Amino acid sequence: MTRRVLVSGNWKMNHNHFESIQFVQKLAAILRASPLPSGRDASLHPPFTSLRSVQTAVESDAVPVALGAQDCHGMDRGAFTGEVSAEMLAKLGVSYVIVGHSERRTYFGETDEIVRAKLDAVLRHAMTPILCVGETLDERQGGRAEEKVSAQLGTALSKRPGSVVGGLVVAYEPIWAIGTGETATASDAQHMAAHIRREVERLSGAEAAGGIRVQYGGSVTPENARVLLSCPDVDGLLVGGASLGAEGFAAIGRAGA
Ligand code: 13P
Repeated sequence: MTRRVLVSGNWKMNHNHFESIQFVQKLAAILRASPLPSGRDASLHPPFTSLRSVQTAVESDAVPVALGAQDCHGMDRGAFTGEVSAEMLAKLGVSYVIVGHSERRTYFGETDEIVRAKLDAVLRHAMTPILCVGETLDERQGGRAEEKVSAQLGTALSKRPGSVVGGLVVAYEPIWAIGTGETATASDAQHMAAHIRREVERLSGAEAAGGIRVQYGGSVTPENARVLLSCPDVDGLLVGGASLGAEGFAAIGRAGA
């Protein structure tokens, strides 16, 4: 089955709302001159403070990118100071929400159970979760990478209908490759992407495994994007640092097509 490739820019804690608007205007001009190839989708994941500005700029310039968020709370409303709900994101026109990013798991104590609750919330509001999974360097060197990823997938995806799981995006982000300049080789990325698909098949059936999109993330650049996207089980990229400039992001969106 041919899948649509999804290239997502996770800006993390970068770009205030002025910088975010400038980014979108620049991207609009780049894509007007040279559109993304067919079969390529893109999403932008600005900080919460920039979401509304990005949404307005994307709509007014008709930029062909989806709006994404970096996180959400598992509850729809309540006394959770500082948090933002999936319901609020849906209202803003957000289509994709990253859940379980390793930085959230490491710095903010997010457990697999919390990640599952966030995934529930995103689905409840008819958006698409980008579920992040991945191992540390210790786990990889100890031969436990697959086991770690399987455990993360198991808690997040078990007991869900195959038709729901088939619509999700799973991002394989090996923690040792994030922001380090150290990229997984195409063969590492392919190996884990295939493992993720097998696990999804075991948990949710063949239909889900065929439908799910698997992204790779971790030190993706315009230079290495082509080889990563050439892996048969890699359907997209989740890009941090290299997504902060409109030219680099557009180049990654076009890579290899
Ligand atoms: P870098 O591309 O900066 O390594 O970040 C990857 C990432 O964490 C995307 O979510």
